Amino acid sequence: PAPGWTTTADVIVVGSGIAGLTTALRLRRRVERVLLVTKTVLDEGSTAWAQGGIAAVMSPEDSPAEHVHDTLVAGVGLCDVDAVETLVREGTDAVWDLIALGAEFDRGDTGKIALTREGGHHRDRILHAGGDATGREISRALIAALHRVIDDPGIEVIEHALVVDLLTDASQRVCGVTLHVIGEGQVDGVGAAHARAVVLATGGLGQIYASTTNPPVATGDGMAAALRAGAELADLEFVQFHPTVLWLGEGSRGQQPLISEAVRGEGAFLVDEAGVRFMQGQHELADLAPRDVVSRAILARMRETGTDHVYLDCRHLGAEFLEARFPSIVERCRQLGFDPATQLLPVAPAQHYASGGIRTDLNGRSSLEGLYACGETSCTGVHGANRLASNSLLEGLVFARRIADDLTARLGAGELPETSPVATDDVPVLLRGKRRLDVQRAMTTGAGTVRSAASLAAAEVALAALAAKAAGGDDHKQGGPKSWETTNLLLLGRALTYAAGLREETRGGHVREDFPARDDARFLHHTVLSRSADGL
Ligand code: SIN
Repeated sequence: PAPGWTTTADVIVVGSGIAGLTTALRLRRRVERVLLVTKTVLDEGSTAWAQGGIAAVMSPEDSPAEHVHDTLVAGVGLCDVDAVETLVREGTDAVWDLIALGAEFDRGDTGKIALTREGGHHRDRILHAGGDATGREISRALIAALHRVIDDPGIEVIEHALVVDLLTDASQRVCGVTLHVIGEGQVDGVGAAHARAVVLATGGLGQIYASTTNPPVATGDGMAAALRAGAELADLEFVQFHPTVLWLGEGSRGQQPLISEAVRGEGAFLVDEAGVRFMQGQHELADLAPRDVVSRAILARMRETGTDHVYLDCRHLGAEFLEARFPSIVERCRQLGFDPATQLLPVAPAQHYASGGIRTDLNGRSSLEGLYACGETSCTGVHGANRLASNSLLEGLVFARRIADDLTARLGAGELPETSPVATDDVPVLLRGKRRLDVQRAMTTGAGTVRSAASLAAAEVALAALAAKAAGGDDHKQGGPKSWETTNLLLLGRALTYAAGLREETRGGHVREDFPARDDARFLHHTVLSRSADGL
């Protein structure tokens, strides 16, 4: 539909997790007009759900070289070393700035910041807050900082605003967004926001699978809009499946309860149906091996024992410790009928993180002029084939600062002048919101934890049938936000399936049953996709 209203800004930041909020706060006052838009309310995205923590070199026993090394090992040969070094080098200061802004991390008896360990880390370097509610505290601190400046004329916030598509000018420079706003304010319905640059910080695509730790809003809207506008996406096949997600039974769908890796960091361990520990001997870090290694070992043990879950044993940690250190997890488990202090917890891998996304350089610039991406939406190259635990909040923080600094310099130098979008009739045919489950089924069975050429082909056939159904007129009149979300999931499902088909090897989060080995000779490179080159 044609936009019913128009607004303008210098920079539009889309998303209100750590990446979006940090970008907007750092741009404020350095750039005249910043518009922050978010799909529901400010604290609804994935950041607030992060349990374990944020990784950074904070202790004299640790060193940047070791954090870099652990990140590169977890990424199985596909991290960009420059990006990882930038992340680690700038991470410590960025975390101290976050603390100065008001984020309160847990401290030990002496008042020093308490650090723990998670999978793949050889040192204690994970800061946490409220025991297991790190993301909620970071989100609280950033939103409080935003509220302190919300009356500032230089910053405008629009909630309940789904970004539908990107606006581009005649030279394909991104110069705004179309939004679908459901609200009572001055803007409502479909509108356009024009700007000199757009920063997408819209989070991941977890809802592409039936079972995920991501909240319902994680529908890949930014990635899909960028792909439609012609931007390059990279490494979509590297989906991280978290090893320990509470198993609630076959029919349980949507967002599932995460049991933080920090629980294993504090000494919990995995056992199979017969009570046998199975991570020892598989990796030098045993239960704290990188996530892809643990998830794969769980899947193998489930296959061997003919079960759909294994167990996490936390009982020896004791009720007092568990309640103090992991209050939210203990409460949630008990609500669901499991007491971690006295019972084994049934767990299985579930989708957790998109390691790939919109391809960017070290300043967050995408392949399209005027378009930046930050956080889980982006692919900066720091995660490679498998993200190291707790590096994602850090990535959002560090690269948001770089984006804000890059934009400040460029806009100050007169780069990215105002320009006008060209009208396009290239509007996708929309799939009904209720078809989300069909997309999830196709992706879960065909392009989930374990893939093969046959399973990927079956997923593609199912997704193509959904697209054909929509194009046949069955769905396309349903133009609300739910339809846009499902349409985005469908587009990204097809792109992910295509990328997974190209990579005929097993590496990190990408497991091919028909190509079980890693193949450095053929696949030591990123999978880069674009709409025009790959027919998506
Ligand atoms: C967790 O707490 O296990 C999740 C941390 C992360 O995904 O980095």
